[in-house]
Amino acid sequence: MIEYRSDTFTKPTPGMLQAMFEAEVGDDVYNEDPTVNKLQSMLAEKFGMEAGIFCASGTMTNQIAMKCHTQPGGEIICDKMSHVYIYEGGGIAFNSGCQVKPLEGDRGRIKASQVVEAINPIDIHKARTQLVSLENTANRGGGSCYELSDIQEIKEVCLENNLKLHLDGARLFNAIVAKDEDPKEYGHIFDSISICLSKGLGAPVGSVLLGKKDFIEKARRVRKVFGGGMRQAGYLAAAGIYALQNNIDRLALDHRHAQQIVSVLKQKDFTGDIFPVETNIIIFEVKGRYSAQSLAEKFKEMEILVMAISQNQIRMVLHLDVTEEMVQSTVSFIGQL
Ligand SMILES: Cc1ncc(COP(=O)(O)O)c(C=O)c1O
Repeated sequence: MIEYRSDTFTKPTPGMLQAMFEAEVGDDVYNEDPTVNKLQSMLAEKFGMEAGIFCASGTMTNQIAMKCHTQPGGEIICDKMSHVYIYEGGGIAFNSGCQVKPLEGDRGRIKASQVVEAINPIDIHKARTQLVSLENTANRGGGSCYELSDIQEIKEVCLENNLKLHLDGARLFNAIVAKDEDPKEYGHIFDSISICLSKGLGAPVGSVLLGKKDFIEKARRVRKVFGGGMRQAGYLAAAGIYALQNNIDRLALDHRHAQQIVSVLKQKDFTGDIFPVETNIIIFEVKGRYSAQSLAEKFKEMEILVMAISQNQIRMVLHLDVTEEMVQSTVSFIGQL
């Protein structure tokens, strides 16, 4: 099977498993796991931020961040296709007691002018706007990347209005590699950043939340309350360290593979709108002789797994378990359809 449904399907390589096997561990709830501590400080240093906390998932790091930045009854501004809003099980309401003001962005990205308009005035009838949450790359936007200048403008609005700024950076390294950026620029702008190790970086589990020291202290408490205090988590953190050391630069290869596949999709009569491919995600509309579902089934007959994400859209995600040969056979299969 060639797996394009998501980059979350990646499996640890022998090298990663060896690193996990050799990890030195301790009790991370007591801050005594040396491998977890190393992973947290490696990432904090990379982004020029003060501290980090290792968690079970990207959902957990996002939810902890939103809980720490807000008070119940508050409002969070984000794009209407944000993962935090549409794919985290209503967690914002459940965990933080906040509501969301979803904005109509451009493939998952919002602008400073929209944020200005969305901020509620101080009025007892209105929820207090407390946080802006961005996603880079934007998953539902087809792996689209923000311009750093646009993020900087949003930051200025946040500073003027006393709002915190969070980044769901589940695939931030895809954006950093695609746009040749310095991670420290992100660390400089955001109050908190969530980084997933278990997407294109290939670790089996884990995300790290970055922020200021006092924010991360607060996050440790919330993680415990959420039941996310893990003990000898260093075995998992070792996979994350291995991923950071070995799997960042190779993301460029996934981006090239995505371009190869999209160029053949563009020639087919059954494809409608195709989102511009900026990183490792392809989202395209299906029309004419196929529905998204029937095309996904056709792919499956050829042992190629893709995801129908709506009635007429398919998503394909490139990652380190998809080899050059697999891309070539996918390209020739699509060519024959
Ligand atoms: C943009 C984005 N944020 C957060 C998450 C959540 O990560 P996890 O599946 O580790 O909870 C995902 C998962 O696919 C994602 O795509």
